[in-house]
This record gives sequence, structure tokens and C-alpha cells, in this order.
Amino acid sequence: MIGRYVIHGHAIVSADDRIADRNGVTPASLRNEKDWARFQASLDLAAVTVLGRLGHEANPNVKGRSRLVLSSSAKGIERRADAVWWNPAEALFDDALALAAPAGGIVAVPGGRRVFDLFLSVGYDEFQLSRATRVTIPDGIPIFSEVLAGRSAADILAAHGLVADPPEMLDPVAAVEFTRWRPPRT
Ligand SMILES: NC(=O)c1ccc[n+]([C@@H]2O[C@H](COP(=O)([O-])OP(=O)(O)OC[C@H]3O[C@@H](n4cnc5c(N)ncnc54)[C@H](OP(=O)(O)O)[C@@H]3O)[C@@H](O)[C@H]2O)c1
Repeated sequence: MIGRYVIHGHAIVSADDRIADRNGVTPASLRNEKDWARFQASLDLAAVTVLGRLGHEANPNVKGRSRLVLSSSAKGIERRADAVWWNPAEALFDDALALAAPAGGIVAVPGGRRVFDLFLSVGYDEFQLSRATRVTIPDGIPIFSEVLAGRSAADILAAHGLVADPPEMLDPVAAVEFTRWRPPRT
């Protein structure tokens, strides 16, 4: 939690913790209608959605939600027609948030990889992780860079203080399950 903001990560991964194929394209096998509906309902509750440039370009902002887009091309923080753009090497996250979501609220983080990495150090208050359990994407883009060193997404989230709720089967036909990770209840 940062001031008036809570950070929620969102991803759908393959059984081997990949978010896209080796070319950076999300394969059809990782697209699931039930998960998409659940994900969109979560984004509706958020004050801002935080995306890497490629994900922003691949997913047009049809609902006109507030977006914060990470790019090395941004000069610090810039308000452009399509989003607030932010270069983390040049400006603070707090200042980017103040422009993109001035009233506070939920900060939804749907990645990709380097964005998920960055927010591991900011701290997730929750991570909503769906998994297509029958799909593998050898050489695909992992959810976190550390997956390339042999660690699982579950190990990485646990190492950052989150605990998994019991998984729910979201779509039995496609074998897509959903797990909410959050801090341990005290
Ligand atoms: N399955 C899922 O849940 C899921 C989740 C996320 C994304 N995806 C998909 O995965 C594909 C690509 O993902 P990706 O991880 O390769 O790319 P991405 O995160 O969508 O975009 C990468 C770009 O974001 C910018 N960026 C990210 N972190 C940055 C930082 N710390 N500082 C400055 N700029 C930063 C850079 O833009 P510049 O090159 O402009 O500097 C970088 O090239 C897309 O098709 C997307 O739709 C799937």
C-alpha cells in the first residue's frame, strides 16, 4: 500500500509461468472468455491500469480507462492523448500516480514482464493469477524475469510475502484456474 493506493497484479500464465510466446504475442491458448470477464470486472474497480508500452499498444483502451504506460521514450511523466506515460528512470511512481489517479484507489498492474518485476519491489497488496494448466509455452516470455533462473511464479510471490488462497476452477473445460495471492491474515 502506498498512501491512498493499493497495488493489484493481474496475469494469466501457462503451466510454465509464461505470459506470451517468444515473439511477445499472447497465444490463443492463453485467452479465455471466463478469465477475460473476471479480469475486466477487476479493472472496472481500479482507479488506474499500469501497462508496459507493448501491452498498451496490443490492447486498445476501448473503455477509456485511466492508463499509466511505462516507456523509456517518456520524458519523465507526460500526459499524452491516450494515457499518462511514465519513465521510471526519470520520475517517481508517486508523481505518476498523482497525475493518473489523483483520487487514490486500486492500481491494477497487468504487466508485462518488466512491469511485473518493477512492482515486486514496490510491493503487491494482492496478485490475481490465472493459469491455463494444460498449456506450456517453451521459450515464452515469463511473468517475472526470475522464472528464467528456474523459480516458479508461486515461489516468487511467496518470497514477496503473499500467500495463496485456495485455487478456484474458473473454466473446467479449458482447465483454467484462478488464485488470489494476498498478505497473510493476522
Ligand atoms: N498473459 C498475461 O497476463 C499478459 C500480461 C501482460 C502482457 N501480456 C502480453 O505480453 C506481450 C508483451 O509483454 P512484454 O512483457 O514483452 O512487454 P510489455 O511490458 O507489455 O512492454 C514492454 C515495454 O514497456 C516498457 N517498459 C517496461 N518496463 C519498463 C521500465 N521499467 N522502464 C521503462 N520502460 C519500461 C518498455 O517500452 P519502451 O520500449 O518504449 O522503452 C518495454 O519495451 C504483449 O502482447 C502483452 O499483451 C500478457
